[in-house]
Amino acid sequence: AELCEFIGAERRGPVMLVTLERPKALNALCDQLTRELTTVLDAIEDDDSIGAAVLTGSTKAFAAGADIKEMQPKGFADVYLEDFITSSWERTARMRKPIIAAVSGYALGGGAELAMMCDFIIASDTAKFGQPEITIGILPGAGGTQRLTRAVGKSKAMDLVLTGRMIDAEEAERSGLVARVVPADALIDEAVAAATTIAGFSRPAVLMAKESVGRAFETPLAEGLRFERRMFHAAFATEGQAEGMDAFLAKRDAHYSGR
Ligand code: CAA
Repeated sequence: AELCEFIGAERRGPVMLVTLERPKALNALCDQLTRELTTVLDAIEDDDSIGAAVLTGSTKAFAAGADIKEMQPKGFADVYLEDFITSSWERTARMRKPIIAAVSGYALGGGAELAMMCDFIIASDTAKFGQPEITIGILPGAGGTQRLTRAVGKSKAMDLVLTGRMIDAEEAERSGLVARVVPADALIDEAVAAATTIAGFSRPAVLMAKESVGRAFETPLAEGLRFERRMFHAAFATEGQAEGMDAFLAKRDAHYSGR
């Protein structure tokens, strides 16, 4: 992480706070930034002492989208052959450990899509979300027509994707896009506290719960329920189940081994 120009990574106990740091371009997601983000997320997955991550930007912008300067000269063959956008960005969506987006200011285009790749979004009351791609002659290319539609339903997704208008934090929460809205100066503390809570639970239970909720977006209900049941049964093979239930019955705090 020391080698990163556009990504900050700071330990907060069992949580890694990852910060997009390209202020001159409102954290526009250029190639180098996404490559650095991939490296940092790989390191988080590999480090047993980290239980969860928070991804944030600046007060002014979580991220103002893909880098329009980099995209402008590209043609079809360029973007098709390099599988532009998904191949490098999807690392966030592939995280096994929980990752929370803490959004302040603009989360537009690819910035909104990156936030939606996280497990849930905590927004400051200054946050603004939008899919303005239509205003520059393209359409969302990293999940904006799919994850957004699953989060907010067809009507609101069509409104945002076809008009390119921005919504504020209050409308985003009302629509189900964000989990919580907090005052701007409490954003990082709130997100790190949520991640710390998660990191304190049984690691296998957390990963199984995350994987099971994720299945709701990939499978029909019967298959999703079957997957959940299998994971639920598997949880009874973990040290966490034995410890968690024993601690409850003994009226003491649980101390999870991470196994
Ligand atoms: N790409 C590259 N540079 C960007 C950028 C982007 N997406 N967004 C902002 N910047 C740059 C600006 O060019 C400007 O740079 P200069 O100072 O060198 O001119 C700097 O960041 C500050 O931006 P503004 O002066 O525009 O700031 P503002 O406060 O007046 O406006 C804003 C803020 C409304 C967010 C405006 O910057 C904006 O509309 N940005 C573009 C948003 C957008 O269209 N995003 C979608 C991109 S497409 C995409 O993401 C594809 C996909 O689905 C993956």
